[in-house]
Amino acid sequence: MTQENNQTDEFLAALDQSLVGGSFVKLTLGQYTGPEEGLKQIIIRHVVVKREDKLSFTYRYKTRDIVKNYGPGEAFDRIATALEGDFKVGTLFTTEFDLSTQTMKRTKPTHKDAPSTSHDRDKVRTIEAKKTSWLYDLKITDANGTVFKTAQDKFRQINKYVEILSPLLKNTDTERTLRIADMGSGKGYLTFALYDYLTKTLGLKAEVTGVEYRTDMVALCNEIAIHSDFDGLKFVEGGIAEYEAGPLDMLIALHACDTATDDAIAKGIAANAEWIVVAPCCHKQIRREIEGHKAQNDLGFLLKHGIFVERQAEMVTDGLRSLILEYCGYSTKVFEFISDAHTPKNVMITATKNPKAKLHDPEILEKIHAAKAYFGIKTHHLEKMLEIPA
Ligand SMILES: C[S@@+](CC[C@H](N)C(=O)[O-])C[C@H]1O[C@@H](n2cnc3c(N)ncnc32)[C@H](O)[C@@H]1O
Repeated sequence: MTQENNQTDEFLAALDQSLVGGSFVKLTLGQYTGPEEGLKQIIIRHVVVKREDKLSFTYRYKTRDIVKNYGPGEAFDRIATALEGDFKVGTLFTTEFDLSTQTMKRTKPTHKDAPSTSHDRDKVRTIEAKKTSWLYDLKITDANGTVFKTAQDKFRQINKYVEILSPLLKNTDTERTLRIADMGSGKGYLTFALYDYLTKTLGLKAEVTGVEYRTDMVALCNEIAIHSDFDGLKFVEGGIAEYEAGPLDMLIALHACDTATDDAIAKGIAANAEWIVVAPCCHKQIRREIEGHKAQNDLGFLLKHGIFVERQAEMVTDGLRSLILEYCGYSTKVFEFISDAHTPKNVMITATKNPKAKLHDPEILEKIHAAKAYFGIKTHHLEKMLEIPA
């Protein structure tokens, strides 16, 4: 038996003991060197599905996660194969010790408590309708915590939103205070939901500021924040473009109209925000450019129909936003936020600062220029805000 086999056996024995003794927290397999494109890490947790013990493998790729559950036998085989193959490091986390295959020394545990094994453990705990005073104050629920029929879509949207933000935020160090600005916060549904989730569910410290034009909404939201004892949540009156953000961890702008989304993104980039999350609203600025210049391209036949102009404007506006964010050193994802049965404003862009990205990459700039030329766009508002060479 080789030394590598011995080491794997010892590691698996420690895993087995921790599972039997109930001290198992998670196991990670990292430093992947194999052929599978984009695969970065596997995170393994213990779950109980239909009363059967399983190990749940989250295959973490660059842009997505895939989860697969295996019975213990198959799971142990897979871990052994991974450690003797393409994963250079395995780390076992238990409530008694951490153990890395790099040293095979038991060190002080990172985690104090073993997590629940419910299959839904990883499902984000959604905002509780009951006993949540801000939901009542915002007229989403009645005094008993029952969601009004007319507010069902909003409530679904609130929960979906928390579910989307959760993977970005849940590994935040609890000692750190997250600074977040929500631009165009409106009646604050999503701002309250985020603050509630961060502080109550994740136990994090957060300073969240909603920025909003409308005096009445700012006053209402500040009142509800006080009533909810949300000390780190406040709303300020003013325009997005004029707001002095200071350094931020996260910038959010949900359904901020037309170029207000660009103003918000530009603020996020200037504030060096680690995450920028926007759900754009109308796309008038680029629609005007497309309609005004009538570029001679292969898609010209679509411009005859208003609905296609609208959709083209939406895709081109947000596609360029995504490229511009990448030019500024972010990795981006664009996806459907909630089903379009609930609202047509359902596209979300999430941008995460990527330290490995080449800042101001001329190749991306070229793509931006080519896309603009193709669609007959002289200026994209975001590009102007960031003073990107036209
Ligand atoms: C459609 S609402 C969305 C509210 C909230 N973000 C949500 O998704 O529930 C857009 C809000 O953004 C505000 N708004 C739009 N442009 C703005 C700007 N440039 N500065 C400040 N507020 C703005 C509007 O007054 C409105 O309340």
